[in-house]
Amino acid sequence: SVTRRFRFNLEWKKVNRLCTTKRLLTVNGQFPGPTITVNEGDDVEIKVTNRVANNTTIHWHGIKQKRTGWADGPAYVTQCPIGRGQSYTYKFTVAEQRGTLLWHAHYSWQRASVYGAFIINPRLPYPFIAPNRPIHAEIPIIFGELWDKEVDDFEATMLATGAGAAISVAYTINGLPGPLYPCSAKDTYTATVEYGKTYMIRVINAALGDELFFSIAKHTLTVVEVDAVYTKPFTTTAIMIAPGQTTTLLLTADQLPSDPTATFVMAATPYVTSIFPFDNSTTMGYLKYNTTGTISKDRTQNLPKMEDTKFATTFTNRIKSLASSQYPCNVPKTIDRRVITTISLNLQDCPQNKTCTGYDGKMFMASMNNQSFLRPSTSILETHYRTGLGTGSSGFPERPLNKFDYTGGNASTMNTNMEFGSRVIVVPYGTKIEIVLQGTNLLAPENHPIHIHGHNFYVVGTGFGNFDESRDPKGYNLVDPPERNTVGVPMGGWAAIRIEADNPGVWFVHCHFEPHTSWGLATGFVVQDGPLPSQRLLPPPKDLPAC
Ligand code: C2O
Repeated sequence: SVTRRFRFNLEWKKVNRLCTTKRLLTVNGQFPGPTITVNEGDDVEIKVTNRVANNTTIHWHGIKQKRTGWADGPAYVTQCPIGRGQSYTYKFTVAEQRGTLLWHAHYSWQRASVYGAFIINPRLPYPFIAPNRPIHAEIPIIFGELWDKEVDDFEATMLATGAGAAISVAYTINGLPGPLYPCSAKDTYTATVEYGKTYMIRVINAALGDELFFSIAKHTLTVVEVDAVYTKPFTTTAIMIAPGQTTTLLLTADQLPSDPTATFVMAATPYVTSIFPFDNSTTMGYLKYNTTGTISKDRTQNLPKMEDTKFATTFTNRIKSLASSQYPCNVPKTIDRRVITTISLNLQDCPQNKTCTGYDGKMFMASMNNQSFLRPSTSILETHYRTGLGTGSSGFPERPLNKFDYTGGNASTMNTNMEFGSRVIVVPYGTKIEIVLQGTNLLAPENHPIHIHGHNFYVVGTGFGNFDESRDPKGYNLVDPPERNTVGVPMGGWAAIRIEADNPGVWFVHCHFEPHTSWGLATGFVVQDGPLPSQRLLPPPKDLPAC
C-alpha cells in the first residue's frame, strides 16, 4: 500500500474579516486548513508541529482508526496534548472507508479555526454516477464560524462562571461570511459552474454551533452520501447538516436558459426552535454560471424557516443506507446490551466560593445520565492500555437515575443532581450494543449532534417525546438505517443507535456542539481487546506526547 505524508504546522495567522483584523490559530497559515486527499486503503502519516504557546491535538473525524486509537486525537481521551515546540505524527490506515470527512483540532474550542476537509477517493467507481453525466468538478462547502474574541479563552471562562454558551458573530462558507454581514461583500464564496455539467458538492459542517439548513436557489440537490457512507440517492431543495456531519451532493447546473442573471444564492442558516432563538444568522455565497460576469442583486434564498422541525424531520428520515450487495448494511439485528442515557443541559447550584453568571445565580452544566464528564489530567487510553479498564470499573449508569418526563418541559427538575467524573461505558470486543440518546428539555429543546469516535453506528430509530422501551424498538428500521458517525438527536426527542464494538480502544462520545462538551455532555466508549491478535489495540507510538 501507499503511504501519504502531510505536515501540519499550528501557527497564528492574521485574517481580515467583518471589518477587523483577527488573529486565528491555523494549520500552515491556511483558513480553513489544508484539504487532505487520500485513496481508500492508503497509510497516512501526518506530522503535526505545534508552533504556538497553546496546547493542541488534531482529530480525524469519522476515520475509524482500527486498532490505532493513539492517532484519534481527542485531548486527554486518547493522548496528552502536543505542547509548544513539540511534534507528534498521527499514523493510521484508511481502510474500507471512502467519501467526505473532516479533520479538526480537539483541544478546548480550537476547532473554531483549526479544521479542514478529509477526502477519501474510493477504490471502486462511485455507485451513483450515470455514464452520460460524469462529475465535471468538485465543489467544497465547509461551514464554520467567526467570533469576536479569541476562542481558546471561552471554555475556561464558561467553566469558571457557569456562563451561557458564547455565540459566534458569523457563520462562514469556506471561511467567508458572505454579503449579509458587515464589510463582507468581498468575502463571499463563489462557485463557478458550466451549464449542463454535473458537480459533486462536498458539504462539511465544521461549525461549533447549530445544525444548519443549506440550499442553492432554484437548484435541486441529490444526496448520495452522508458521513462518508453511500446512501440511497434522493433529491431535495435543501439539506440539514449537524456539526461534525458531512453530506455529499450531486448538482446539475441546469438553470441558465431561464435566468439571464445566471447567479444564484447559496445559503446556510441554523435550525433552532423559536422558543430558544439565540442564533439567527445566515451565511451566503453564490453559484455563478461561467457565461456571465455580473453578480445578481437577487438574494432569493431557498431555505426552510429556522424553526422548521417538519422539514428537519422529513429530510432526516429520508436518509437510508444504500444496502446493496456491494455496500451492504451491517446493522446488528440483535443486541447484547441496551444503554439508555439522557442528554441534558441543566442549571447547577453555584459553589460557595464562586459567583455564577449562568442564570438565576446558577451555572449552566450538562450531563449524560447525571454524569457530567470531566476530562482527566492524563489520557484515558494510556490508563486503559497500562492497567486495563474492566467492565466492573466502568460505572456509567445504563439507565437514567432519576426518571421524569424528559421532554415535557418541567423546569422544577432543572437541577439533576449531577456527579462530576469520568465514568465510561466498557464493553467486551464484539459486543452488539444499542445506545438510546434521550433528549431532555430542562432548559429548552436543543440541538444535540452526538458523535462517537472509532466506530460508525446505525441510526435505527428516532422519535419525539420520551423513549418507550416496550414500544419503540418495534418500529426500528433494521433493513437500511443510515450509517453515520454523528447523529442529530431530534429536539425534544430521542435517537437509538446500534454499534458492533469491533475496534479495541477508548472512544470519546460527545455532543459536537462544543459548549455542551465543555459543560460535560460526554462520556467514553471503551472496547476491550478481543482474543485474536488482530483484535487488539496496537502499542503506543514512541513520539506520543506525555502529560
Ligand atoms: Cu469531531 Cu470528538 O469530534
